[in-house]
Amino acid sequence: MAQPSVSTPPPNRIVVSAAAGKYSVVIGDSTIDTLGKEMDAARLGPRRILISSQRVWDFHGPRFRSIGADRTPILIEDGERYKNLNTVARILDALVKAQADRSTVIVAVGGGVIGDMVGFSAATYLRGLPVVHVPTTLLAQVDSAIGGKTGVNHPLGKNLIGAFHAPSLVVADPAVLQTLPRREFRAGLYEVIKYGVIADPSLLDRIRESVTAIFNRQPEAVAPLVTASCRIKADVVSADERESGLRRTLNFGHTVGHALEAVTKYKQFRHGEAIGYGMLAALAIGVARGVTPKSLYEEVESLIAQLGPLPSVADISAKDVYAAIGRDKKVVAGTLHFVAASARGKTVELTDVTEKEIKAATRKIGLRA
Ligand SMILES: NC(=O)c1ccc[n+]([C@@H]2O[C@H](COP(=O)([O-])OP(=O)(O)OC[C@H]3O[C@@H](n4cnc5c(N)ncnc54)[C@H](O)[C@@H]3O)[C@@H](O)[C@H]2O)c1
Ligand SMILES: [Zn+2]
Repeated sequence: MAQPSVSTPPPNRIVVSAAAGKYSVVIGDSTIDTLGKEMDAARLGPRRILISSQRVWDFHGPRFRSIGADRTPILIEDGERYKNLNTVARILDALVKAQADRSTVIVAVGGGVIGDMVGFSAATYLRGLPVVHVPTTLLAQVDSAIGGKTGVNHPLGKNLIGAFHAPSLVVADPAVLQTLPRREFRAGLYEVIKYGVIADPSLLDRIRESVTAIFNRQPEAVAPLVTASCRIKADVVSADERESGLRRTLNFGHTVGHALEAVTKYKQFRHGEAIGYGMLAALAIGVARGVTPKSLYEEVESLIAQLGPLPSVADISAKDVYAAIGRDKKVVAGTLHFVAASARGKTVELTDVTEKEIKAATRKIGLRA
């Protein structure tokens, strides 16, 4: 047993129920150092193949020496423009060359791009090998590593090709976030704000009150954000893995957010930044309809401003964004399922949001007509 110490509080463990079985999310500083033991305990092995990116590996590779993996990891490019079938083909080639077999466990070390591509490769190689996620961005720790959604982009749309493949274990070590560029770190914080709006308003208070400590990546400020966010995501996906109802609440801010990413060809915004704008648009629609308190709009607006400036949207047209929403996966049988906030920590689904409302809200947040 690890000795408790002042500097390293014991890790938090959250259990997620998936159709394929339960898995643990282990969160805490230095948890990467226990990865091998966690995998042993979950009977994940005997063979372990690590997949990461050069950048992540240069920073954190040495910490994985002890997990009994093949000596050289498979290194692939990360970044959204590499999240495609070509990179998946490279991963699969490397697995074939490494003679990965049914006793092999894949360990994905990286941000959401690595996690989604490696998860998808693990879902398809030999019709499915277990995958362990070690998320290294804030966004991946609080969101993408949990829930089993995997996949890649098609030139015509984001995440159009994919599979559900729940991980067998997730180890989120906030200490790795020390090396994350500030912009990437901040992008993850918008998703934490999302959890605050949809489920746990204390997260909004926490960010507002300790923004400096959070940006300084002080463990006692960051780890509770990761834990609280993971708990919400874990609860939601345990109740609704395939997104037939409750999981849709996680799409708060994502209707307009994804559209902003699409019309700017995924170049102008980090995903979280687009969600920052998307949340403001969703709140504006709610306020205009009378379902969202104006005070909540103002609270989130000032919190987002407190984190720093977002890239400008002044050159983006509300008309283009509306058109992009029509092409989104959230349109089911012609109906847009729009998540609005009804109070701090509560959501309501609207299925009759009009073009006029969306255009008015996107203009309110700064888009041109
Ligand atoms: N599967 C899901 O449920 C789900 C949910 C949300 C988002 N996503 C996906 O996640 C992706 C975005 O993930 P992301 O924001 O993590 O981006 P990313 O994976 O592109 O990582 C961002 C950058 O940070 C670098 N990086 C990663 N960890 C680092 C570290 N510890 N130190 C220094 N640099 C580091 C990477 O090399 C990369 O350049 C999108 O493709 C999105 O679709 C998936
Ligand atoms: Zn998101």
